[in-house]
This record gives sequence, structure tokens and C-alpha cells, in this order.
Amino acid sequence: MSTSIEDIIGGRCERELVNIKGWVYRKRQSKETIFLVVRDATGVIQCTVKRKSPMWDVAERVTIESSVSLSGTVRRDKRAPGGFEISVEKLEIVGLAETFPITRDAPRARDEEFLRDVRHLWLRSRKMTTIMKVRSDVLRFVHDFFRQRAFIEVSPPMFISSAVEGGATLFGLKYFDQNLYLTQSAQLHLEALIQSLEKVYCVAPSFRAEKSRTIRHLTEYWHVEAEEAFTDIDGMMCLEEDLVSHVCQEVAKHCRKELDYLKVKAEKLAKIRAPFVRITYDDAIERLHKKGFKIKWGEDFGFDEEKALAEEFGKPFFVYAYPRKIKAFYCKAYRDKPELVMSADLLVPKIGEITTGGSRVDDKEELLKNIREFGLREEDYEWYIDLRRYGTVPHTGFGLGVERLLAWMLDLETIMDAIPFPRTIRRFYP
Ligand code: 4AD
Ligand code: MG
Repeated sequence: MSTSIEDIIGGRCERELVNIKGWVYRKRQSKETIFLVVRDATGVIQCTVKRKSPMWDVAERVTIESSVSLSGTVRRDKRAPGGFEISVEKLEIVGLAETFPITRDAPRARDEEFLRDVRHLWLRSRKMTTIMKVRSDVLRFVHDFFRQRAFIEVSPPMFISSAVEGGATLFGLKYFDQNLYLTQSAQLHLEALIQSLEKVYCVAPSFRAEKSRTIRHLTEYWHVEAEEAFTDIDGMMCLEEDLVSHVCQEVAKHCRKELDYLKVKAEKLAKIRAPFVRITYDDAIERLHKKGFKIKWGEDFGFDEEKALAEEFGKPFFVYAYPRKIKAFYCKAYRDKPELVMSADLLVPKIGEITTGGSRVDDKEELLKNIREFGLREEDYEWYIDLRRYGTVPHTGFGLGVERLLAWMLDLETIMDAIPFPRTIRRFYP
């Protein structure tokens, strides 16, 4: 049986004979000793082979990123990274690596484009490994949150026959002899499911034919979406802020090591607590005008406007009550101000929008009117209109981009680093 490096570094195996399996992360040779830094999924540890050891030849042969199985005695050593080291007694090369294309000193190792070309190999870096671990925990905390609140997890379809978020970002595809699309959002299907399950959520991919080449756009991203019957937009904002606070608190508590490695202050995340500031779209426009922005009432915010607003708050905040024209056909209008809809975006520093949600039109006639006014075809939405025919209820929901959330929490340069194999307008390899 092999031991995990985490257990060794944790001081649970001092003076014991252990076997570890992993990959050679670094190698350094002096006259009398070969130092191998070996990594497994849980950490790295320094292993030493002495010249007089029968393993010296094997250690000389082993290359960076070769996979190995080695046995030896654990010793406490202040000079070793992590404070422990293994004196190797047996070293076996499982898979000898050819010259690894990403080496520490090669100038290419700092070329982001190159690192994305060899993403399948760059995923072995400590930076990517660490981010992937936090990503996994973030998803776990999202599931915990919804389950604690008795939301039921559902699995929406990826092939869809009509747009959710407008035609401009739809990916079309041939489906036998039909034209279909890849889903942009599970929302409409979640709306069907709340009519029996009341509170549902999903974590699934969404696809956007985004022509934007920004730090916050992917063509394929993971989408946390929730939908709830008998609720209003205030309740929805409470749910969203509770979710984001929960995830930040839990990451601060359970991902200390990872946050330290990524130089993210756990205290910063621990401070993210509901309730979040809420401002109206009108208020946001006024604030932007004061900052010198030329945006007119009725226009949507771009990245620059969102960033400027977010800088002012320095933490997550909601903008709600948007002009009807810039939001989707399913958004419910305020009774006393029909030009405004009950839609809210959650914005954060550096990244801008991380969620959109709101109240859905629950009246059949209003929905039919919107479908016409937005230039959509009624026959494409028959099943969705049915939901307003048979026992309609006021309801709300929202969608949260997993990669945007992570990029903000971990202060990443781009959301491409928040997903193992990013897909963008130009990138679909490896
Ligand atoms: O704002 P969006 O388009 O809203 C919806 O899709 C709603 N139907 C969701 C709902 O109410 N169930 O997308 C929701 C979130 C955005 O706030 C953003 O975080 C993320 O999805 N997102 C993207 N993330 C990465 N790359 C893209 N191209 C994204 N487009 C949206
Ligand atoms: Mg949005």
C-alpha cells in the first residue's frame, strides 16, 4: 500500500518506511546526492538518493515528469520543503518521460498562449492543481448549500429547440435532419420542474457562441442554476447572497492551504457575508454619470461600467430593476413601472457580473405579448406557454457562472484558468 504525500508532510509517518507513487517534479544533483522532488495528488516531497546507494543509477536516469514508485524512510529535515524528506531505498521508474516541454527556466513557461496549447501537461503545475482542487470544493459547497435548503437536483437537457438568452449567442447544430441548439441556460426547463418539485437546481454546462474575447467569456462554461416556486425577487436575492456567502465562508475555512499557495487572503473571503448592497439600475446610471460615463438610460452595462461600479463597492452587490428592453422576454415587469423588469445581476470587483436572475412572467397573456414583441415565434415556446396554462405560480430563479465565481474568489487573471480545458472563440484544443 502506498502513502499519500500529505500524510507524510503532516508528520504522521516520521521514521517509518513508506512507499509513494507519483511524478518527478524537480531534480537536482550534487556530487554525493540526487534530490528528487516528487508530487502526487496531495502534495510534493523531497526524496534523496545517495551516491553509494544501489538506486543511484536509476535516479540518474529518471527525468522530470517520469512517473515513479519509491520506498524509503521518512526523516524530519528543516531544509526540505514541507519539513520532511524520504531517504530512498528503492526507486522504480514506472514511465520514463521524454524531455518535458514545460521547464521552469524555459522562457516559454511564461508564455500564456503556449501554456494553453499544452494545457494537458500544464494541468500538472501546482498552480492549476491547486485551482482544480478549490473548484471541486466550490462545487461541493454549492451542492451542500442547495441540499441543506431542500432544493432538488435535476438534470436538464443539453440539446434544445429554442433560445433562452437570445439568438446572438446560440450554437446551432445538425440533429439528424433537424436544426437544434446547444443549451445557453437550463432555466426554461427548470421552470417546468418547479411545478412538481418546487425548489430545483442544477450544475451543468452552458454554451455561448460569444464572439467576445475577454477575461470573462468562455464558449462553454459551467452554470449553477436554481428555480423556486412561490417566490419574489427579494427572496431570490437573499438566496443568491446566502449561496455566495456560504461558498466563500467554506472555502476560507477548508481551503487554507490552497488559498495560501495562490496568495489569496482567506480573511478576504471570510468577510463576504450576506446581506449584499442592492442598488437599482437607475441609481447605477446616476453613479456612472458622476464618474464621467456617457451611458444613456436604457443601455446595458459593458465590462467597463460594471468594473467602475464594482470598484466603488469593493465587494459583491446587486443591481436590479433593469429596463425591459435589455433583459430577456421571460422577465416579469413591475406592475407600477412596466418599463422596468424584476431582474437582478450580482456584480463583483474585476470580473463584473457573476449572476443574473429574477422573477419570471407567470401570466400567459403577458408572456405571449413578450414573445411577439421580442420577435420570437410562439410555436417554438408552446411547452413553455403551457406552464402558464396549467397552474401557473409566481417564481424566480438565477444562474451563476462557476468560472466567473472562481476567478473572482481566487483573483485569477482570466476565467480560462478556472476550468481545466477552456473553450473560447479560438481555443478548443486540447
Ligand atoms: O446572464 P445569463 O445569460 O443568464 C441566464 O442564462 C439566465 N437564464 C440564468 C437563469 O436565470 N437561470 O448567464 C448567467 C451567468 C452570468 O451571470 C455569468 O456568470 C455566466 O452565466 N455566463 C458566462 N460565463 C462564462 N462565459 C460566458 N460566455 C458566460 N455567459 C454567461
Ligand atoms: Mg446576465
